Amino acid sequence: MTQKLIDPFQRAITYLRLSVTDRCDFRCVYCMSENMTFLPKKELLSLEELDRLCSSFIGLGVEKLRITGGEPLVRRGIMTFFDGMSRHLETGALKELTLTTNGSQLERFADDLFAAGVRRVNISLDTLNEAKFAEVTRWGRLPQVLRGVEAALKAGLRVKINAVALKEFNEDELFDLTEWCAKLDMDLTFIEVMPMGDIGNENRIGQYWALDDLRARLAEQYTLTDLAERTGGPARYMRLEETGQKIGLITPLTHNFCESCNRVRVTCTGEIYTCLGQEGKSDLRAPLRASESNQLLEEAIHAAIGLKPKGHDFDYSRQELGGQMSRHMSHTGG
Ligand code: GTP
Ligand code: 5AD
Ligand code: SF4
Repeated sequence: MTQKLIDPFQRAITYLRLSVTDRCDFRCVYCMSENMTFLPKKELLSLEELDRLCSSFIGLGVEKLRITGGEPLVRRGIMTFFDGMSRHLETGALKELTLTTNGSQLERFADDLFAAGVRRVNISLDTLNEAKFAEVTRWGRLPQVLRGVEAALKAGLRVKINAVALKEFNEDELFDLTEWCAKLDMDLTFIEVMPMGDIGNENRIGQYWALDDLRARLAEQYTLTDLAERTGGPARYMRLEETGQKIGLITPLTHNFCESCNRVRVTCTGEIYTCLGQEGKSDLRAPLRASESNQLLEEAIHAAIGLKPKGHDFDYSRQELGGQMSRHMSHTGG
């Protein structure tokens, strides 16, 4: 059975986001609470199981594989997994092997990632101010991440910076972040903050900054040209004519992009979530472990994708949270 993955709304599933650990060396305020309980290590899929799982997805038509976490580079032995995946790049079955990282470990791993065939990384960074960086990540330290960014560029990786747009937090850094990325020839994407997980007392409605407003502010300083090109992710891109750089906007709240959704998420315990903004999930670990052949696993993948919902229900418009999710962002890796 090698039927491609098509969901009930005729969307072809070609993008897998795999979270390889729920752990992280940061505690970003919009992602985790300060006191997180993590999964016991024995619950995790082994590196070999992760390989088998991804290889099955690739056999079923997945062309883009993004490794996430938590922080993927804190998973022990993770380079073995990346090295293993490069064989699918070599055959051409996999078009892109990439990751989303907080950058803390890139100084150590950037060269190895390039050697494994990774060509592009997304690095999460919301502010260039050291004190604010420590505030938003709680445990993160900006200089370490900046060294990571530098190492990635030096290794030859294309870098995209992901900044969560936060009202009264990084609003005033819109132009600093833009200019910094232009100077280092990095792409930049802003993300609307989504209501994920019980993360304490922060009022997320106050934090939410609609990207329509951000775009209007950019337009006051730069000439913006909307681009048709897509990376296979949810961002819509524009070019700033004065600098030539690309800026992406990820707008789950203001412009729903579910219609063109091509992705599913698998957690480090082998749960498949077919929508970031819905609770629905299925277990892939039991069918993976039930036999050495991949048939049961592939059937379970097809069955899960057969239940993929139309889209999320995030909504802040009534001045109350709609579509709030109980799980933390770190559970599925964004
Ligand atoms: P590119 O390959 O660079 O396009 O990456 P990407 O945007 O797919 O991945 P990245 O990990 O950089 O994701 C950026 C943000 O987009 C994260 O906060 C994700 O949670 C969010 N995102 C990705 N896919 C979806 C989705 O299907 N629904 C929603 N609501 N948000 C998503
Ligand atoms: N809303 C939007 N983006 C989030 N991220 C983490 N939590 C949230 C949230 N609640 C972002 C991270 C990273 C990406 C994987 O998800 O900053 O860039
Ligand atoms: Fe870690 Fe990323 Fe979550 Fe921050 S957003 S706590 S870096 S997983």
